[in-house]
Parts: sequence; structure tokens; C-alpha cells
Amino acid sequence: MPPSQKKKPTAETSPVEGAPAAVRLPDGFQLIPGALSAIEQETLLADIHDIMRRAPLFQPRMPRTGQPFSVKMTNCGPLGWVSDKDHGYRYQPTHLDTGVPWPPIPQKLLDLWRTHAAVEGIPEACLINHYPAGAKMGSHRDQDEHEPRAPVLSVSLGDDAVFHVGGPKRSGPKVRVTLRSGDVCLLAGPSRFAYHGIDRILPGTSNLIPGGGRINLTLRRVTPFD
Ligand code: SIN
Ligand code: FE2
Repeated sequence: MPPSQKKKPTAETSPVEGAPAAVRLPDGFQLIPGALSAIEQETLLADIHDIMRRAPLFQPRMPRTGQPFSVKMTNCGPLGWVSDKDHGYRYQPTHLDTGVPWPPIPQKLLDLWRTHAAVEGIPEACLINHYPAGAKMGSHRDQDEHEPRAPVLSVSLGDDAVFHVGGPKRSGPKVRVTLRSGDVCLLAGPSRFAYHGIDRILPGTSNLIPGGGRINLTLRRVTPFD
């Protein structure tokens, strides 16, 4: 074909026939596949189940419309992210339904933050999202935090998920990566406020969580370091 008609290589096409397609991730976005061993995933899951006994999953709802999310949530740490019809998105020190303070962040997660976050301060919130088969998370930016130097550090447990990440505009180009159990990723630096979300869960891809599904943990710094 004449050079002018040659298809430009993109994330989905490769210039070399039969070669795997290259995926160019946004600047600052980091993916650490297999950051947690199988044993570490089991231990962390036990910690999360303990947290869920003390701080049961709640049903988050969209501000104003009251429409339920397809994920359920809980938190650990001094602050937790919640959303409901009347008061919208916010961080608060107590459980949305029980009013009890959130349990502490497990040491393993604090260790992951120390290893990968590349900042001095500690995280203040860990949002725990539970995705049953069929759940998704629409494209959004994590922007309720007041320390832009701190990344958002995410840990995936259970079934694989198709994750998308783009740039600062909702309409901009996005890349898709599969997040697997034990993977850690970071929205850091220029990608800190990038649009991202979960397109779908791939049921039956992990045996970690009895009954299937996916749990995602995101560590956040909420207040400024100084
Ligand atoms: C989130 O953006 O809060 C969750 C992302 C994920 O589930 O991987
Ligand atoms: Fe997010």
C-alpha cells in the first residue's frame, strides 16, 4: 500500500505483523504486575475480611440522583471515602451506616505505600471496592484529596479486571490494561488526576475470593503533607 495509506501504529495495532501490540501508558502511571505473592494475597484478603466484619460493605449512591453504584464499598484508615444522595462525595472518619470509626490500615498496605509511593507522608484512607461479576466503575478522576504530590496506590485481589486510564480530559485517548490479583498500580505524577475506570470484571479468572468477584484497595493521602 502507498505510504500515505499506511495505518499508523496505535496501542491496538502493531507495525510488525504477528508481534504483540505495544501499550503506551500515560506518563507517571505505573503498573507492577505480581507485586504480591499468592501467600501475601491470602494474608491481605484475610485482613480485608476482618475489616469487612468490623466495617460492613455499604451501598454508595450517586449525589443528587441517589442511583446506586454497582460496587459496594468500605474503608480503613483515619478517613474513608463515602458517597450518598444528600451529601455527595467526601471523606469522613466514620462508617456511613454504623457511625463507627474505620479500622486501621493493615501493615502490609502501609509497607506497599512505603515501597512504591515515593513520598514522605503516610496514606490516610484506604477505599475498599467490592466488584461482583457484572460490576463496573465509570470513568472518573480521584480529586477529593488535597495533596497532589501523593499518588493513589491501587491493589487488585480476585478476578481480573479491564482497567482504562487516559489523561486529564474525559474525552481523551485511553489505554486498557488487565489488572490481575496481586498487581499494584499507581496514579502518580502527571497521571495523578487522570481519568480511569473499570470496564468489566472477567469472572472465573481467580480462585482467591470464595464465590468469585474482585476487591480493589486504593490508598490515598487526603490532607496536605505540611
Ligand atoms: C477506583 O478508581 O476507585 C477503583 C479502580 C479499580 O477498581 O481498579
Ligand atoms: Fe478512582
